[in-house]
Amino acid sequence: MAERLKDKVALVTGAASGFGEGIARRFAQEGARVAIADLNEGAAQKLAKELGGLAIRADISRGSDVSALVQAVRAKWGEIDILVNNAGIGHKPQALDTLSEETFDRILAINAKSVFLTAHEIVPAMKARKRGVILNIASTGGVSPRPNLTWYNASKGWMITATRAMAVELAPFGIRVNAINPVAGETPLLATFMGEDTPAIRAKFLASIPIGRFSTPEDIASAACFLCSDEASMITGVALEVDGGRCI
Ligand SMILES: NC(=O)c1ccc[n+]([C@@H]2O[C@H](COP(=O)([O-])OP(=O)(O)OC[C@H]3O[C@@H](n4cnc5c(N)ncnc54)[C@H](O)[C@@H]3O)[C@@H](O)[C@H]2O)c1
Repeated sequence: MAERLKDKVALVTGAASGFGEGIARRFAQEGARVAIADLNEGAAQKLAKELGGLAIRADISRGSDVSALVQAVRAKWGEIDILVNNAGIGHKPQALDTLSEETFDRILAINAKSVFLTAHEIVPAMKARKRGVILNIASTGGVSPRPNLTWYNASKGWMITATRAMAVELAPFGIRVNAINPVAGETPLLATFMGEDTPAIRAKFLASIPIGRFSTPEDIASAACFLCSDEASMITGVALEVDGGRCI
């Protein structure tokens, strides 16, 4: 296989599970050195060992953790070429007027503020080097929201607007910024969005996906690899649906 990310240093947040794990695996196959940042240190270590990567425990909603994380990657491999803001959380389906303030704050801190924190740490070096790629894992919920996931959907809408705003501001510095909008995917997070994992609820979700299946970490990894490779050198500011047609 051609190594489309040969010798690139990539930092993937939330890479110990689900989509992030899929992205880390693909990036490693494509020749990148991959830093796996996650709250779940045990799973991150296990994957890093398998991929020859670097595992770092970090809560990406905390500035001090993000700062230490970026320093650890630089100490090991030098500057970061590719940043994937993938870590995110959801909430159980519920009426928008019943979600607790604490949960709202946590969702915004992890799904939105982390994009600000990683940019603060990493963009200055990318600007100085006149290159870099940032990929944000948003959601179809950010463009075609389902009821009862309102605050999660809104956090992903924030991420899509941040992607476009970052892209236009950073383009003159040679930095590309894109997003992926996955549809409901086969990861541990899916049960949270469904509320309950039953055949009836699965069928209801699947009925809204024309291609007729959930997305997989491999689907998201394929799109991520393309957008982060030089093949996409003219692409910036897009939020690419990987959704089997759900947003049509
Ligand atoms: N699975 C879906 O249906 C779906 C659909 C659309 C978008 N997404 C988005 O894809 C991304 C990945 O989701 P997933 O389905 O793979 O979830 P997942 O729960 O399988 O994995 C998320 C990972 O992020 C880590 N994480 C959570 N909070 C963290 C924090 N504060 N600091 C560091 N790491 C943290 C978790 O430990 C976990 O390893 C999320 O942003 C999610 O919103 C998921």
